[in-house]
Amino acid sequence: MTLSLASGVDSQYVVQAATKDDVLNIQKLLNHYASMGDLLPRTKSDIINNLAHFRVIKQGDDIIACGSLEHFTEELAEVRSLMVASNIKRGGLGRMIVEDLIRIAKARKVGRIMALTYVPDFFHKLNFITVNKDIFPEKIWGICVNCYKFNNCDEIAVLLKLK
Ligand SMILES: CC(C)(COP(=O)(O)OP(=O)(O)OC[C@H]1O[C@@H](n2cnc3c(N)ncnc32)[C@H](O)[C@@H]1OP(=O)(O)O)[C@@H](O)C(=O)NCCC(=O)NCCS
Repeated sequence: MTLSLASGVDSQYVVQAATKDDVLNIQKLLNHYASMGDLLPRTKSDIINNLAHFRVIKQGDDIIACGSLEHFTEELAEVRSLMVASNIKRGGLGRMIVEDLIRIAKARKVGRIMALTYVPDFFHKLNFITVNKDIFPEKIWGICVNCYKFNNCDEIAVLLKLK
C-alpha cells in the first residue's frame, strides 16, 4: 500500500507485513517509547507470538513505523504498539499505519476498533471518538489487569465503529 504523505516526507513508504527479521527492530523502537512511558513494554516472545498482527513501514532494515491489530473478540480489535520513529513524527506515517489497520479490520468485518492512548487527538483525526474505558471489559479484565498501571491508568480510550 503506497500513500502520499504530508509535505516534505518521501512519498514512497509502504506498509507491509512484519517478518521474523523485524522482531528485534520492533522491540528496539518499542523499548524507546516504553522507557518514556508512552507505550507499554512487550517481551520479545510477546512480539513473536503476535507477529502476524504487526504492520510495518521500513527504511532499509530499520522499522520507522509500526502498529498491530489484535482481537479481543471477533467483533472488537485493538490498535497496539503504534509508533513512529522520533525523527519522522508528524510526517503522516502514523496515519498510514492506522489507515492500513482499519482496512484490514474492514476486510475481516470487525465491528469496532479501540485503543488506549495518551494521544487521543491523533486518533480523533482518524475519526475515533473518546469513550469510557469501562465499555471494554474484555480489555480491562483480559489484559489491563496484568499491567503495572492497572490501579493507576491514565490512558484514554478511543473507539472507531465500523458498523
Ligand atoms: C502517535 C504517533 C503514532 C503519531 O504518528 P505521526 O506519524 O507522528 O502522526 P501523523 O503525521 O500521521 O498525524 C496524523 C494527524 O494527527 C495529528 N497528530 C499527530 N500526532 C499528534 C499529537 N500528538 N497530538 C495531536 N495531533 C497529532 C497530525 O497533526 C495529523 O493531523 P492532520 O491530518 O490534520 O495533518 C507518533 O507520534 C508516535 O509514535 N508517538 C509515540 C508513541 C505513541 O504515543 N503511540 C500511540 C500509542 S496508542
